[in-house]
Amino acid sequence: MPKVTSLELIQEARSKGHATGAFNVYNLESIQAVSEGAKDTNVGVIFQLTKSAAEYGGLKNIYDLIMNCIDIYGIRAAIHLDHGPTIDMVDECLEIGFSSVMYDGSALPFDENVEKSTICAQKAHAVNATSEAELGKLVGVEDDVSVDEKEAYYTDPKDALKFVEATKIDLLAVAIGNAHGFYKGEPHIDFDRLAEIRDIVDTAIVLHGASGIPDDAIQKAISLGIGKINIDTEFRYALMRGVEDYLKANPDTAQARKALSDGRERMKQKVIEKINLFRPGV
Ligand code: 13P
Repeated sequence: MPKVTSLELIQEARSKGHATGAFNVYNLESIQAVSEGAKDTNVGVIFQLTKSAAEYGGLKNIYDLIMNCIDIYGIRAAIHLDHGPTIDMVDECLEIGFSSVMYDGSALPFDENVEKSTICAQKAHAVNATSEAELGKLVGVEDDVSVDEKEAYYTDPKDALKFVEATKIDLLAVAIGNAHGFYKGEPHIDFDRLAEIRDIVDTAIVLHGASGIPDDAIQKAISLGIGKINIDTEFRYALMRGVEDYLKANPDTAQARKALSDGRERMKQKVIEKINLFRPGV
């Protein structure tokens, strides 16, 4: 298991008025980019992976790559399961050594979400890992799950309190106008709702769908209590643009490593940009 959990990193960052970046990884280049960004800024980070990332790269394989990089780069980092679809997958990740797991019951009725998220929290706490759960439903596509505007709903602050008290989860992911993937127009974050949740809920709060939210809105969300910020789409986009530009400059090339190096460098710059955004005043 990594030496730190998500909760430890988030609490340390919160004590300075900062938030912790959680970056979705799936291959060597994305893991190296996060590692280099964390090393250059000397800031703790969360590596996170979804079921699809595990299917793509192999759960244990990706875990081992991350553990190797934590060691090689000498960084402080947690390894987190993002949007765990089943308790079996939570079990599998904890057994391998993840220091943080999310069970995503946001599509379930409230009581069932409570039931499953409680199991996730108990299993995580039994091995001193962090647990995350989600209440409310975000628009957009994340992993295999697609949610349209009709199905989406915001987190109710009173339900959030009941949910956190019943489940004993460590991190609460909220739906406050955030969405997975790039936004169609300007995102409208419901800051009043966030402040209300923050006032009555003690648990660290997670902002999913942070790609494309303007910088000032991100910093306002941090000032209102957001502790963990998930970045996936912008990070993947950086890889693709780096590779694309290399291919445009070098048509018909077979230099896969050079193209991927350019993509990795763009991802690293994105990680540094986000880490700096998440620590206002530094
Ligand atoms: P984005 O793809 O919008 O950055 O969202 C990432 C996320 O919330 C992963 O759980």
